[in-house]
Amino acid sequence: MKEEIERLLAEVVDLKCRTQKEVEEARVRLLGKKGEITRLFEEFRALDKDGKREFGRALNELKNSAQNKIGELKESVGGDSVSDGPKADLSMPGDPLELGSRHPVSIVRQEIVDIFRKFGYDVAEGPEIEDDYHVFEALNFPQNHPARDMQDTFFISAGHPNPLLLRTHTSSVQVRAMESMKLPIRVICPGRVFRNEAISARAHCIFHQVEGLYIDEGVTFADLKQAILLFAREMFGPETEIRMRPSYFPFTEPSAEVDVSCNICHGKGCNICKGTGWLEILGCGMVDPNVLEASGIDSKKYTGFAFGMGLERIAMLKWRVNDLRHYFENDMRFLKEFDTAVEV
Ligand code: PHE
Repeated sequence: MKEEIERLLAEVVDLKCRTQKEVEEARVRLLGKKGEITRLFEEFRALDKDGKREFGRALNELKNSAQNKIGELKESVGGDSVSDGPKADLSMPGDPLELGSRHPVSIVRQEIVDIFRKFGYDVAEGPEIEDDYHVFEALNFPQNHPARDMQDTFFISAGHPNPLLLRTHTSSVQVRAMESMKLPIRVICPGRVFRNEAISARAHCIFHQVEGLYIDEGVTFADLKQAILLFAREMFGPETEIRMRPSYFPFTEPSAEVDVSCNICHGKGCNICKGTGWLEILGCGMVDPNVLEASGIDSKKYTGFAFGMGLERIAMLKWRVNDLRHYFENDMRFLKEFDTAVEV
C-alpha cells in the first residue's frame, strides 16, 4: 500500500493536462468510482487497526492533493483547445475585414460633383434648418403664393414672420452664395432636403439634390443648354441627347424641365422610360431678375442660370432601382449591391 500511495502522489504532482477532456479523464482515472485512489480506499477498509493507523493519513493526503490538482487544472486549462504551445495552423489566411461600401446616393453625388468641378464650379453647402426667407422669399415665392404648395414644407416655428423650417430644396444655398460670394458665381450645392410627403415607392419625405448656379455678365439660355448637355454626356455617356420642355419655377424665367435620351433602349422605348425614349432628370431656367435683385445683384448687368436635380432619381435610373424606400432602409442586402471599393 505504501508504494502505491507514493506512486500515485508522484503522479498527481506531475499531472499535466492540455484540454478539459484530459482533466476529466485524469479525474475519472484517479477519483472516479473505479479510480485508483477509490480502489485504495476500498483496500484500506479491509485493513486491521494498525494498518489503518499507518496509512490513513497518507491516503487522505493523497486524495486531497488529487482533488486540489484536478481543481487547479480545471481552472487553468482553456476550452477544448490545445493550450500549451501554438498548435493552430498559423499559415491559414485570417478572416477578412469587412469593408463598407459607398451608399448609391453618395456615389451619384460624387460623380456629379466631380463633373461640375471639372467645369470650374465650386461646391457650396448650407444649413438644413433654414428660414422662410432663404427657402422661399428671396426666391420670388411671395407670401401666400400658391407656388409654395409645390413644396410641402415641414415648419419648425410657424406663425413667425420668418419661420424656421426644414429646407425643401438646396436653392437656399444658392441664395446664401449670391449674398456672400463675389461675382461671377459658379457653384453647385449638394445636400439633403425635406418635404412633407407620404412615403411611397416614388416619393419620400427626405431626399438629396444637387443644384447649380452660374451668374456672370452675358450668360444666356444657350449657355444653360450647353452646360446641361455636357453634363448629361459626362454622366450618362457620349451619345446622350437632351430635350427641354417648358416648365414653371418662381425663381427662373424662362424655366424648363430636361429629359435625357434613355440609354437603356436608346430611344426605342422600354419599361424604364415607359416607352417614350426619354427620362426626366432635372429642372432649370434663367434666374429671375427679381431673385438677383433680392440678393443685391444688378439684374441689368448680370444674368444667370440655375438647375436642380434629385439624386435618388438619378441613382434609380442608373441602377434601375424600383423603390425609393430602399435608399433609406439600410438593408445590407441592398447596400452590398453597390460594392465599389471605398476610395481613400
Ligand atoms: N429648386 C427646384 C426644386 O427643388 C429645382 C430647380 C432649381 C429648378 C433651379 C430650376 C432651377 O424642385
